[in-house]
Amino acid sequence: MKIIKSDLHAIAALPSQYPKDDLPEIAFAGRSNVGKSSFINAMINRVNLARTSSKPGKTRTINFYIINESFRFVDLPGYGYAQVSMSEREKWAKFIETYLTTRKNLKEVILVVDMRHEPTNLDKMMYEWIKSFGFRGLVIATKADKISKANWQKHTKIIRQKLEIKDMDLVIPFSSEKKINVDKVWKVLEPVLDKTKDQ
Ligand code: GTP
Ligand code: MG
Repeated sequence: MKIIKSDLHAIAALPSQYPKDDLPEIAFAGRSNVGKSSFINAMINRVNLARTSSKPGKTRTINFYIINESFRFVDLPGYGYAQVSMSEREKWAKFIETYLTTRKNLKEVILVVDMRHEPTNLDKMMYEWIKSFGFRGLVIATKADKISKANWQKHTKIIRQKLEIKDMDLVIPFSSEKKINVDKVWKVLEPVLDKTKDQ
């Protein structure tokens, strides 16, 4: 994918704040601090368009990034972050749930996990939910630069086992830091976007 243009399009909590056109969207869900915002920056070759932080709980709203004026990446608040109040966490969960269950533009939801760790029960719930809605169930296993390549397979196997994934191609090791597998992920996402163009 040749990225000609990328911009922050909208920041939303409520549906009335979502962009009103019908451009296709791909959303990224995952635990806080796994690297969702960094992943978006790496894919569109921007340093800090999506704001990142070493402290969990950075993204607290639904952030829409418009790419090449033709589709959007949607950065969702991370879940599973214990350091915020229950009421705040419930609020974010509601934002995410409303977006995921009502958004017509949504073409794919991708789970982002930290490759070093076994997915949590919350990840598993999110993954099952993604599958139940008929999405493909692609998993980005990021921070791959923190593991030697010889151990990648061991880690992706742990991820596949916890999430009960049979198809090895569904879990893609990725590094935002070292830009590993940017092209490979675009190859998987391009058909999703092309399909919507033909409809
Ligand atoms: P929330 O917004 O809190 O949900 O977090 P997030 O999932 O958006 O994570 P973010 O992209 O802010 O990254 C969290 C931390 O992990 C930052 O310090 C990043 O620099 C670091 N990080 C993200 N991706 C990678 C990666 O591929 N490799 C390495 N080494 N560090 C990474
Ligand atoms: Mg973030």
